[in-house]
Amino acid sequence: MRHLMTPLDLSVEELDKLMKKAEEIKADPDKYAHACDGKILAALFYEPSTRTRLSFEAAMLHLGGKTIGFADATSSSAAKGESVADTIRVVSCFADIAAMRHFKEGAPMVAAQFSGIPVINAGDGGHQHPTQTLTDLMTIKSSKGKLSSMKIGMCGDLKFGRTVHSLIRALLRYEDISFVFISPDELKLPDYMIEELNARSDVSYKEVTRLEDALPELDVLYMTRVQKERFFNEEDYVRLKDYYILDSRKMELASSDMIVLHPLPRVNEISVEVDKDPRAKYFEQVLNGMYIRMALILMLLGIEV
Ligand code: NCD
Repeated sequence: MRHLMTPLDLSVEELDKLMKKAEEIKADPDKYAHACDGKILAALFYEPSTRTRLSFEAAMLHLGGKTIGFADATSSSAAKGESVADTIRVVSCFADIAAMRHFKEGAPMVAAQFSGIPVINAGDGGHQHPTQTLTDLMTIKSSKGKLSSMKIGMCGDLKFGRTVHSLIRALLRYEDISFVFISPDELKLPDYMIEELNARSDVSYKEVTRLEDALPELDVLYMTRVQKERFFNEEDYVRLKDYYILDSRKMELASSDMIVLHPLPRVNEISVEVDKDPRAKYFEQVLNGMYIRMALILMLLGIEV
């Protein structure tokens, strides 16, 4: 039985296979409409979510399966003090696969150790978010035709943004990747991520504060929201939340084939005027997210179509 906690749980070959499968499903969804007949996905969400939870649920429904779960820990027995370990043992009696989001880093990993069914980390605190990474990789691959030889800019909350941490880990496995990390001083990448980068002599990266300076040289710009829920005080959040706003004027500095990604939800960091720019790929990313989760569910359940 396999779980998915970080993108490193999948080999590069498996990542490629998943992206290929997701494209196949996208092109011919009817072929997969009954692949999971009789199967149940449990969505265990201890933290708010729109895209991730709904796309897991839609993925299972489109495969012919059913879903159970909770979208709010206060409506589950967690409110009575039940441990994640006990909850997953119980859920293993009811479902075939589980997606868990938790505010505590490592909680899905604990669940996996006690689980009788595959567990997918759907985001754990400021740590990792592997299925968002699958979505991001699929969108980069389909827009740019490759995942190697690229300069990737990551902008915003690089400290608490788990999507950033997972995506860096995954991209480090492709050739000739360089990064520009764009953030205020307070929201720089955590030390453990910097250590992972420093351990790789073939990867170059720089940390800058001005988005305008980085824009002209990027192939991909990954924007992120300042993670309000992980701040210790409101004052810091208010000071930092609008630090970066990507608008049409700034987009003029970027190359004509740079793409803009964002895991969403967006707050103010991308003006809505950018949405109509053909380089804006964040809504396409959402759609890809459902197909790649369909491919992942099939893989973890060992279902071939
Ligand atoms: C992200 C998350 O939950 O980490 N959202 C998502 O799953 N698409 C990004 C965010 O909340 O900022």
